[in-house]
Amino acid sequence: MDTWESLRKECLDCKGCSLADTRHNVVFGDGAENAELLFIGEGPGQHEDEQGKPFVGRAGKLLDEMLEMVNLDRSKVYIANIVKCRPPQNRDPLGVEQDACIDWLRRQTALLRPKIIVCLGRIAAKVIIKDDFRITQEHGQWFERSGVWMTALYHPAALLRDVRKRPETFEDLKAIQAKARELCDHTGL
Ligand code: URA
Repeated sequence: MDTWESLRKECLDCKGCSLADTRHNVVFGDGAENAELLFIGEGPGQHEDEQGKPFVGRAGKLLDEMLEMVNLDRSKVYIANIVKCRPPQNRDPLGVEQDACIDWLRRQTALLRPKIIVCLGRIAAKVIIKDDFRITQEHGQWFERSGVWMTALYHPAALLRDVRKRPETFEDLKAIQAKARELCDHTGL
């Protein structure tokens, strides 16, 4: 069985795909190791690659604000990505890269045992919820698998590009807050 420390150490040495050749840092994940909510993004961008932490650039700042709107913050959730290394020029991670990386997230999820998983954007929702996930139609909907409740929000980068999506996202965030109140014990909500 993994521990957080052994898993992180192993992951930081990963050479499982060619993204290892261009990365500056592996972005393992960040947050409370007993969090009941797991947020999953797509993959690191430039700032995340430089700092080795998820969601620290502009999209990350917006994510922090989104969490604050519903009285959550990084200290109460865990944040990870589908791929742990930056795809060059911030392109979408390729299928082979996602396949090579997904086991790290599986092992993180096994350690965390979250009650709620929130996918940030289409790519995470397709991997985690279902392959034909349509973010414009299905964001904010709930899916339950083996007792774990899952939903997806628009990616914060999409909300930076298109502010018209923000009101719907606020409704989705409030639904996440309500679900956390119902299911979680130590979010303080
Ligand atoms: N976008 C993501 O999907 N993940 C990050 O960590 C940063 C930006």
